[in-house]
Amino acid sequence: MNLSRTVARGRYTACRFLLCLRVLAILAAELLGLGWANADQPALTVVTRAGERHFTAAELLARPDSAVVNVNGDVYDHAVSYRAVPLLALLGSTADDSSDTIEAQASDGFVSQIPMALVAHGANGGAVAWLAVEDPAQPWPRLAAHGTGNGTGHGTGHGTASAGPFYLIWEHPERSGVMREQWPYQVVRLSLVESSDHRWPQLAVPPNASNDTTKRGHDVFLAQCSPCHRLGGGGAGEVGPDLATPMSPTQYLTEAGLRALIRDPRAVRTWPGQRMVGFSKSDLPDSDLDALIAYLRAKADNKANNKSDDKANNTAPGHN
Ligand code: HEC
Repeated sequence: MNLSRTVARGRYTACRFLLCLRVLAILAAELLGLGWANADQPALTVVTRAGERHFTAAELLARPDSAVVNVNGDVYDHAVSYRAVPLLALLGSTADDSSDTIEAQASDGFVSQIPMALVAHGANGGAVAWLAVEDPAQPWPRLAAHGTGNGTGHGTGHGTASAGPFYLIWEHPERSGVMREQWPYQVVRLSLVESSDHRWPQLAVPPNASNDTTKRGHDVFLAQCSPCHRLGGGGAGEVGPDLATPMSPTQYLTEAGLRALIRDPRAVRTWPGQRMVGFSKSDLPDSDLDALIAYLRAKADNKANNKSDDKANNTAPGHN
């Protein structure tokens, strides 16, 4: 009895020892192989058909195609000169049928879906997309606690960090109608992905409510709201609440209240941790706000209809 217990304990100890060795080996491999040498240098992950690549700021700044790009009125709200790399060249591939969108993920859960067509248009007269790279030797200024310019919506890092290390900027944004939330900053990952409609059918305009206004509302939602808000689970943003589940704000806010909130959340209610930055008329023209609300309402109505369809034989008129 004693012997077998000893043996058993011995085996147990040996197992633990082997486990320790394995853990140590994995740790050592990680330290040597990945990142350790660059632990203090933030890296950008780029995922394309060529696979997954990682770049440090120094590597990007050393590229022969890096250039100085001047931008006025972005997240810093004044003229800034950035060192930047042409986005198209960095991605090294153009859209195909299956992946026609660039997903730009920021460190705080903000995720922009940027149509590849918008970026590609830069090669023939449209706005030109660049990835600005912060030189660790010449850090950019910190972001203001509450920004007012382009792309200032997200940013839990506001007040403590800059827009770097990687910031997607546009030259001549007006040429292609580039919208505010299509300027993601503090980017950590760029991936070529399938279009949002393909990935998230729940974002589609309901067929019975499809018209030019709701279609425009869908596009505005995708560009301006989905980086932070999901809709019925669709989307990748993680900053704000889902705007359809469990309830749509078109159902629990008055239309006037919802419009006021989108223009300026602080006009509706305030608290210290509030983060959403309102959309001025230059960020979001009245016609786009109308379209957006029509789209949100169509989504909510469609959901209510489907619910009453589910209750077979229920003849109650249901919503509205
Ligand atoms: C950069 C991130 C960001 C963007 C972009 C953004 N929001 Fe928000 N939104 C938030 C956050 C975060 C909240 C939660 C309240 C807060 O902290 O401000 C919020 C709250 C809201 C609310 C209130 C929800 C509730 O019940 O409290 C509505 C409605 C809303 N957003 C609509 C929109 C619409 C419509 C758009 C696009 C035009 C948009 N938001 C764009 C981050 C964002």
